Amino acid sequence: MDSQYLRLVETADGSKTIWNEAVGEHYHSRHGAFQESEHVFLKSGLQYWQERTGAQKVAVLEVGFGTGLNFLLTADYCTNTNLNLNYCGIEAYPLNNELLGQTGYGKYVSEGLWKSFLENYQQALNKEQALNNNCRLKIAYTKLENFVSDSLFDVLYFDAFAAVHQPEMWSDIALELCCRYLKPGGVFVTYAITGNLKRSMKALGFSIEKAKGAPGKREMLRAVKL
Ligand SMILES: C[S@@+](CC[C@H](N)C(=O)[O-])C[C@H]1O[C@@H](n2cnc3c(N)ncnc32)[C@H](O)[C@@H]1O
Repeated sequence: MDSQYLRLVETADGSKTIWNEAVGEHYHSRHGAFQESEHVFLKSGLQYWQERTGAQKVAVLEVGFGTGLNFLLTADYCTNTNLNLNYCGIEAYPLNNELLGQTGYGKYVSEGLWKSFLENYQQALNKEQALNNNCRLKIAYTKLENFVSDSLFDVLYFDAFAAVHQPEMWSDIALELCCRYLKPGGVFVTYAITGNLKRSMKALGFSIEKAKGAPGKREMLRAVKL
């Protein structure tokens, strides 16, 4: 994605997001990028999975890595609680370091993690990097449709642009392509919930749940692989 189409804008909780003019969509909720990321992905996804399993290590797959906000909040939490993190983000259009730095997301995580993230984002493209003693990051620089993995994951953060802008990312085929890498008992979360999505996830062998949405949204989908 040519960065001329990308512009930083402020959301309702004071955190920034990116407006993608070519797609006509923001990277996060206008009601609050930080709040959405924390509620939908960290709390309703990773922490929900951790409460169910009590595990000491976790593997997370994200569809649509973008600015890395979901990764940063997750990695900071995992570092603070000694939960060993292996994170793979799928991203077709990685961002440049200038824009990443301008998001200001450093204020939500430790200084060391933020610095390490900025130093390692480009190196993590297709090559796993250790960001600290606790967290490893790889950004699969590819479109979802071409993604393959040798590993399976415990939690899947599905953070594609909305279906009205990128319907192909929410198709049965696209959902199957990423959900095949989730372990049984693994948790899938996304900020949206629609009839089509619920039907697709059920057909893929998930139990589905309407969970409370992030500020500004009534509901979101959480699904557990049976
Ligand atoms: C809603 S934004 C994700 C925001 C991101 N999680 C963050 O915290 O910044 C959607 C992301 O999906 C990426 N994307 C678009 N098409 C894609 C595709 N076919 N495969 C993988 N990623 C794609 C976009 O470049 C963008 O970064």
